[in-house]
Amino acid sequence: MTNSERKPLVSVIMGSASDWDVMSGATKILKDFNIPHEARVLSAHRTPDMLREYVKFAEERGVEIFITGAGMAAALPGVVASCTILPVLGVPIPSGALNGLDALYSIVQMPPGIPVGCFAVGKAGATNAGLMAVAILSQKYPELKEKLTEYREKQAKKIMETNLPEE
Ligand code: RP5
Repeated sequence: MTNSERKPLVSVIMGSASDWDVMSGATKILKDFNIPHEARVLSAHRTPDMLREYVKFAEERGVEIFITGAGMAAALPGVVASCTILPVLGVPIPSGALNGLDALYSIVQMPPGIPVGCFAVGKAGATNAGLMAVAILSQKYPELKEKLTEYREKQAKKIMETNLPEE
């Protein structure tokens, strides 16, 4: 069975196709860890009803984590979190006049009661949101624990093998 034929465990939602370049950082990690996932463009302000319906339906289909990305006023992560009690991870997209600072504030400053895990602005944040999803899922799927440990070891090895150029 290929990855796309298995029931998605992670849903990656972004407010616009223009967010894909950043959000593909999350799907790359999910692909590397062989975690079934799906990615959708749905917007909190442009398609509010469709977004709510999708989140409810995704939960019924077995999705366990949402990774969300949005730029500018960035209501999407909070709106997704308002529709589900599953973990919602939020990635601020660098776009618009404030280049992601606005999105960072709107995701990190969620009022108490409806949490969204906020990550770094941009691709680093998307990559880490993917890795956090792996870490959460590894509590239930032990094979992911091994893979995550290997991933960390590989990173450490790279650092240990680094040689600086001659001065
Ligand atoms: C947000 O507005 C999206 O998440 C995107 O980052 C930003 C700009 O969207 P586009 O005008 O590029 O579609 O909703």
